[in-house]
Amino acid sequence: MASRYAETYQSWKNAPHRFWKEAAEEIDWVKSGDEAFDGSSGQYGRWFPDWECNTCYNCLDRHVEGGRADQPALIYDSPITGTAATYSYKDLLDRVQAMAAVLADNGIGRGDRVIIYMPMIPEAAMAMLACARLGAIHSVVFGGFAAHELATRIDDAAPKAIIAASCGIEPGRVIAYKPLIDAAIDQSSHKPDACFVVQRPQQVADLVEGRDHDLGLLMEAAFSAGRTVDCATVKATDPLYILYTSGTTGQPKGVVRDNGGHMVALKWSMSNLYDIKPGEVFWAASDVGWVVGHSYIVYAPLLHGCTTIVFEGKPVGTPDAGVFWRVISEHNVASLFTAPTAFRAIRKEDPDGKLMAQYDLSNFRALFLAGERADPDTVNWAADQLQVPIIDHWWQTETGWCIVGNPLGLGQLPVKPGSPTVPMPGYDVQILDDAGHPLPANTLGNIVIKLPLPPGCLPTLWNAEKRFHDAYLAEFPGYYKTSDAGVIDDDGYLSIMSRTDDIINVAGHRLSTGAMEEVLATHPAVAECAVIGIADQLKGQLPCGFVVLKAGVNRPHEEIEAELVKLVRNQIGPVAAFKLAITVERLPKTRSGKILRGTMRQIADGESYKMPATIDDPAILDEIFGAMKERGLAGSS
Ligand code: COA
Ligand code: AMP
Repeated sequence: MASRYAETYQSWKNAPHRFWKEAAEEIDWVKSGDEAFDGSSGQYGRWFPDWECNTCYNCLDRHVEGGRADQPALIYDSPITGTAATYSYKDLLDRVQAMAAVLADNGIGRGDRVIIYMPMIPEAAMAMLACARLGAIHSVVFGGFAAHELATRIDDAAPKAIIAASCGIEPGRVIAYKPLIDAAIDQSSHKPDACFVVQRPQQVADLVEGRDHDLGLLMEAAFSAGRTVDCATVKATDPLYILYTSGTTGQPKGVVRDNGGHMVALKWSMSNLYDIKPGEVFWAASDVGWVVGHSYIVYAPLLHGCTTIVFEGKPVGTPDAGVFWRVISEHNVASLFTAPTAFRAIRKEDPDGKLMAQYDLSNFRALFLAGERADPDTVNWAADQLQVPIIDHWWQTETGWCIVGNPLGLGQLPVKPGSPTVPMPGYDVQILDDAGHPLPANTLGNIVIKLPLPPGCLPTLWNAEKRFHDAYLAEFPGYYKTSDAGVIDDDGYLSIMSRTDDIINVAGHRLSTGAMEEVLATHPAVAECAVIGIADQLKGQLPCGFVVLKAGVNRPHEEIEAELVKLVRNQIGPVAAFKLAITVERLPKTRSGKILRGTMRQIADGESYKMPATIDDPAILDEIFGAMKERGLAGSS
């Protein structure tokens, strides 16, 4: 079948407002309007300006009313605890109402912020949906972040409450969440009124009298009493959630997602991009703490009437590299969405796909990859093993859904290895030089998106309109700056080459080297430092810190380096995967004092590099090369 991509993209280009107004017919609105877009409000206009809706209603109630009450909505599969559970749409609605009742009893309502700090348990999705039901704004914080990161988010979002679990479980260790939450609340200036804790048997938390509540008990009482809570009517432009993502400094950016545009875009993507039908099982093996988890574990599958999977485990080691295939075959998964790093991990353990062969994958149709570059080697291996389309697609926390992909639902386009394919309707993607001039095909430059961004993308940053403008809109007027660099070829296929800022991508997790440098600089022995991301076969990139010690510090370097590793783990969290600090005499700089991080990375990755013309002292690069060699880095060069 010829792909309908070109005509669909063109129909959006011809009449963008009409395109999204038609897509909006898939959503149940409390009130719809004549205009799909108001170009005069917000930073670049707002989608569905006077429209009103409720996201939880569209995810749950309408499916229960429409005949899906008994269909599984959420399957919890937790190989790490050896437990599993299935919730039908009716079950999920009842539990979400019970949780919403508990929150409402504690004064939480429209516009209030609620931080959710939870592992991959069903209550995490219920908490998000309960907030959506009340019109409260959730902000999920990934469990791998430490207390300090949580405190930063508490101060920025000023939540009325925190919803948490007593612990998360990582292979070989139980992570008590409550001490992290208590430490974060101690550190933050804003103090939430209440903390609701799901007590897990692996580690029960001590509750602070007057502030903390046993959420399980309260929910059970509300559930047994058959409590119901009406869906709050919110404006389509009201925030559904804030999701903090790494910026160039230690202060994360609070990406705001609205209610209406978000639903329209996600619903559109399920049929047209992912080629999924209501009633089918869609599995995003990510975490609710990341944007992929927000969009494709919770909201999109439920908006579309699918069954979603909350998987608490790892691609390897829980118990083995066959667990993805077990989940796909046991739950009849039609499509899987994950990060390439998960496949690199599986391939390393099971290169010949022996474990895969043990499972019936006959109903499995497609694998979608995002979050980091999908290296052709991994893509080819996955394609050989699975014999289904492997679809790389590119997006960002900021956009909330795919920018460039291969729309299976419109008919698959030919795959070019290394390219996530073509822009989705809504995105006019262009390549500009640093001065903002359009570049010809096949020329590397800044990837930008012509404004307005489509529905679903961030309208602004939480409480930071100016930062939003400065970070995304100021450099290339009329465009959104993605901070990715890449090329578009003669067929309109995009390839992502690198970031243009100091963000690195570790195991599909987006991290700021600037934030790590801020932490290293707080160590009393450190005079200056630079953190770079170096290539890693499994995780894509790993952070590596270079430190210059203050004059007169004569403690063993290994001792200080170990303290630095601990410091980053304690301040940012284990997810930073910061395990390598190297002491050097000097850092290579330009004559104006800028640290040559790019050149250091090229040396570490064994890439050829040109001696920067502005370098202050070329001998320092040799010293850095020597220091890396001693640690087994700096491949060939
Ligand atoms: N809570 C607490 N700690 C967590 C955590 C969580 N939710 N998630 C990860 N961590 C810890 C890990 O235990 C690890 O700790 P360690 O240094 O003591 O070993 C550290 O953070 C780094 O985690 P990660 O980089 O994820 O590595 P890993 O060794 O645990 O697993 C992979 C490696 C490749 C299997 C894993 O990264 C993976 O499955 N990634 C999938 C990527 C993904 O989901 N991306 C989301 C976007 S689609
Ligand atoms: P995040 O906001 O965590 O989703 O990270 C977004 C960043 O991850 C992008 O700006 C890219 O640098 C990178 N990224 C995401 N998907 C891809 C992809 N398919 N190919 C290459 N890089 C990607």
